[in-house]
Amino acid sequence: MAELKNDRFLRALLRQPVDVTPVWMMRQAGRYLPEYKATRAQAGDFMSLCKNAELACEVTLQPLERYDLDAAILFSDILTIPDAMGLGLYFETGEGPRFRKIIRTEADVAALPVPDAARDLDYVMNAVKTIRSALNGRVPLIGFSGSPWTLATYMVEGGSSKDFRHIKQMMYATPEVLHQLLDKLAQSVTDYLNEQIRCGAQAVQIFDTWGGVLSPQMYMEFSLRYMRQIVSGLIREHDGRQVPVILFTKNGGQWLETLAEAGADALGLDWTTNIDDARRRVGHKVALQGNMDPSVLYAPPARIRAEVADILERFGPGEGHVFNLGHGIHQFVDPESAGVFVDAVHELSAKYHQ
Ligand code: CP3
Repeated sequence: MAELKNDRFLRALLRQPVDVTPVWMMRQAGRYLPEYKATRAQAGDFMSLCKNAELACEVTLQPLERYDLDAAILFSDILTIPDAMGLGLYFETGEGPRFRKIIRTEADVAALPVPDAARDLDYVMNAVKTIRSALNGRVPLIGFSGSPWTLATYMVEGGSSKDFRHIKQMMYATPEVLHQLLDKLAQSVTDYLNEQIRCGAQAVQIFDTWGGVLSPQMYMEFSLRYMRQIVSGLIREHDGRQVPVILFTKNGGQWLETLAEAGADALGLDWTTNIDDARRRVGHKVALQGNMDPSVLYAPPARIRAEVADILERFGPGEGHVFNLGHGIHQFVDPESAGVFVDAVHELSAKYHQ
């Protein structure tokens, strides 16, 4: 395996010294890039793109060709696990993800298999191996999964949701059924992430996109509990290097102290919490990743740079910051603006690392 040439992303996650603050963007491969749209058109639909290792590798590398990013993220989706459980994932244009089979009853949950990642998600593992080899040590490769709670929302609602009616009904009316589902998902996610690590992922992130729709009590019981279970089952060292784990609960700012105890190396932060407050609250337990509002990228360059400067100043000197957006980059952003953002992070952060 090629020697890692730029390890500042891994170092920052482990709160080790770096020369400048590392940066990547959630959803950095995607529809805001014309070259992504071209490759996607060539593949046909989104899942065909995910299942073609060469094309998945191509779109993973596209943002790295344009920008001086410090990490690559596997091109795939969080919904590959429910798909491997037999739910039949498909994408309706403009409607987001959908499942042919929906999970609503105890019998539905009991019938769900726990996929064997190496066998049932081999296309993801092939993509990981292909990307890792093509990166040739340029930057580390991030693997990822959805959290059990976030995956369950799609499986029970049948797709995206605004009010989470069905899963919340299950949570309050038949909590034991939801626990059975979340336990199966936690087992599946642990195996899936460990297999990604064995195939070459050098850090992993768990996306808990919908944890923030829960009350504090329900968040601890139905989301955080299962993320903890996963973290305690993950491979933490591979090929002589630590494999950092990042937990990202969108809208989870009020639970940072508890999240910091979950056993992860770093926490992802959306833009609704100031990063200086977050840093004070988590102390030296974890690194922080974030947290610029993705909509700032609609602003002119001077304003983007000012927002980057403000977040760097709030975090202040010292280790443990990976710069990122507070959520995925929007599809209508001008690709030039993403470049302004990435360059600003490197240029304006050097003074905090002397
Ligand atoms: O970050 C990256 O560049 C890696 C790829 C990645 C995708 N999805 C590609 C994708 C990652 C990390 C994800 C994670 C994901 N997928 C999440 C968690 C992160 C988050 O944003 O909160 C969620 C909730 C999903 C589920 C999902 N997949 C949705 C809701 C959609 C539809 C999005 C939309 O705007 O229509 C997808 C499809 C998807 N996943 C696309 C991409 C690039 C767009 C598909 C297309 O090309 O049309």
